[in-house]
Amino acid sequence: MGKKIKKAVFPVAGLGTRFLPATKANPKEMLPVVDKPLIQYAAEEAVSAGIDVLIFVNGRNKRSIPDHFDKAYELESELEARNKEKLLAIARDVLPPRVSCIYIRQSEALGLGHAVLCAKPVVGKDPFTVILADDLIDSGDQPSCTRQMVDVYEKNHCSVIGVQNVSREEVSSYGIVDGEQITDKLWSVNALVEKPSIEESPSTIAIVGRYILEASIFDQLETTERGAGGEIQLTDAIARQLESGKVMAYEFSGKRFDCGNKLGYLQANVEYALKHEEVRDQFKTYLHSLIS
Ligand code: UTP
Repeated sequence: MGKKIKKAVFPVAGLGTRFLPATKANPKEMLPVVDKPLIQYAAEEAVSAGIDVLIFVNGRNKRSIPDHFDKAYELESELEARNKEKLLAIARDVLPPRVSCIYIRQSEALGLGHAVLCAKPVVGKDPFTVILADDLIDSGDQPSCTRQMVDVYEKNHCSVIGVQNVSREEVSSYGIVDGEQITDKLWSVNALVEKPSIEESPSTIAIVGRYILEASIFDQLETTERGAGGEIQLTDAIARQLESGKVMAYEFSGKRFDCGNKLGYLQANVEYALKHEEVRDQFKTYLHSLIS
């Protein structure tokens, strides 16, 4: 029997410069899509995959995420006094009681790889998942993206990278997989190429913000030199993990919104609003009125 994935790491210490000034005093992961911050969608995705330890790697502006997942005594007693039971439940039930949250500080924004390495003392020797909350994934009627990836891990017992097929024009913005296709959704990775040109790209299979990693990644991260942008890159460490073990790439079912950039974030708000019980009808009418 292999090990179960019980822990998720959420790196939330990036500078979020593409969203300034919104991210001046707040992490990007606290930006709401309709009425819920990105980080809560990500936490719910982890919980839906049976994960019960959530590890947040915080940077500057470190307070709002712990505050979000903490009990809000004053707000709760105000809502209670006003008999606002529905709202009270929304404020109170942000996470199920079985879930615990751990906060770690990344003192300098030295890159995603460095942020993941900061979680080493808490993760220990077990495999774990890394979820980048700014990649919002709507899996519709399918199990959540992380649930799908945990299923792949449980069958293969090796690191699994979440991937998507992108257009040829987009390859230069992503880490790209060079691998052997095993099924229509699964690749055995031979190499990873960071942001290649169209001519040099081995495929159009791009890495997005979901990973299941064997704990040996920490050994690789500890000895990974600073790469692109002077940052310690997670992709570089996974590429080195390939030297000693198998890595799979899995094309999950679901629609991904890149909420790390303004256009993707706006698209997510429109599509989630069109599905939101409370506002969808009025919002649809409003959108029609704009184009008619
Ligand atoms: P991004 O590459 O989107 O960088 O990080 P960023 O700093 O957040 O945003 P921009 O480019 O300045 O607008 C990808 C993920 O890695 C985390 C981010 O919070 C995001 O979830 N990250 C990045 C860290 O936790 N620490 C870092 O040092 C860098």
